[in-house]
Amino acid sequence: MGLMEGKNVAIFGVANKRSIAWGIAQALQREGAKLAFSYQNERMGDAVKKLVADLPEEPFLAPCDVTVEGDIEKFFAALGEHWDGLDGIVHSIAFAKRDELGGNFRDTSWDGYALAQQVSSWSLIGLVKGGMPMMEGRNASVVCLSYYGAEKVVTNYNVMGVAKAALESSTRYLANDVGPSGVRVNAISAGPIKTVSAMGVGDFGTLLDSMAQKAPLRRNVDQMDVGNTAAFLLSPLANGITGQTIYVDAGYSILGV
Ligand SMILES: NC(=O)c1ccc[n+]([C@@H]2O[C@H](COP(=O)([O-])OP(=O)(O)OC[C@H]3O[C@@H](n4cnc5c(N)ncnc54)[C@H](O)[C@@H]3O)[C@@H](O)[C@H]2O)c1
Repeated sequence: MGLMEGKNVAIFGVANKRSIAWGIAQALQREGAKLAFSYQNERMGDAVKKLVADLPEEPFLAPCDVTVEGDIEKFFAALGEHWDGLDGIVHSIAFAKRDELGGNFRDTSWDGYALAQQVSSWSLIGLVKGGMPMMEGRNASVVCLSYYGAEKVVTNYNVMGVAKAALESSTRYLANDVGPSGVRVNAISAGPIKTVSAMGVGDFGTLLDSMAQKAPLRRNVDQMDVGNTAAFLLSPLANGITGQTIYVDAGYSILGV
């Protein structure tokens, strides 16, 4: 029997087969979870619909752009018609304008800062609030995706580093807020992985090379490394873990000089 048998999980952030959220979806599906997916808008929805068509069971699918007022509420209202309850949320969403992901950090614009925070950090709060009525009392678990640039300066990561710092902090505040209702909230700090979002970070190839050369495991991580850890955090095996940032980075974050 799979770790996630009988569990309902909503996944936000699949764009294509390279998305980290797709690695998580595959691990959850293997472990027996029932899945629901959001897609950002109709334009991006076609690719997601094609991708999930290969899953053994047809999943629930609905749009949700976290910058559009009311979209999160609409998503959960529709999901509530489909499922009685929710056992997990995967938040694998981030965005910053390309010109904010390079150059001088002091040139960060307010618009760019606010947008990165809204999409990449505030949305976790929005999704937890939206999903709470369906998660209460079910031992549910929420997982979001962060990166080392939250805590150390990573060249070009700039405004996204600040958004990830807020995301990790929100993980702790949310964990304390919803813990009494039996809901856990954790972040995975993943090593660099080649995805559409990651390619927006200036000189991303250098990050990949440096990690593969220096990390204790001397390799990069991939979507399934992250997916397997997410499945663990969403499963009852992790029932005692909340408010944490767990590193899936081949050990890179332990290094000093
Ligand atoms: N790829 C990496 O190197 C890496 C490393 C650590 C953490 N992460 C994080 O993993 C998560 C997933 O990113 P990915 O690398 O799989 O890239 P991706 O481009 O495949 O996924 C990003 C997702 O965010 C969604 N999104 C963007 N704006 C949105 C909005 N307004 N409303 C709803 N959804 C929106 C996109 O539709 C897409 O599905 C992000 O939080 C990212 O910061 C990525």
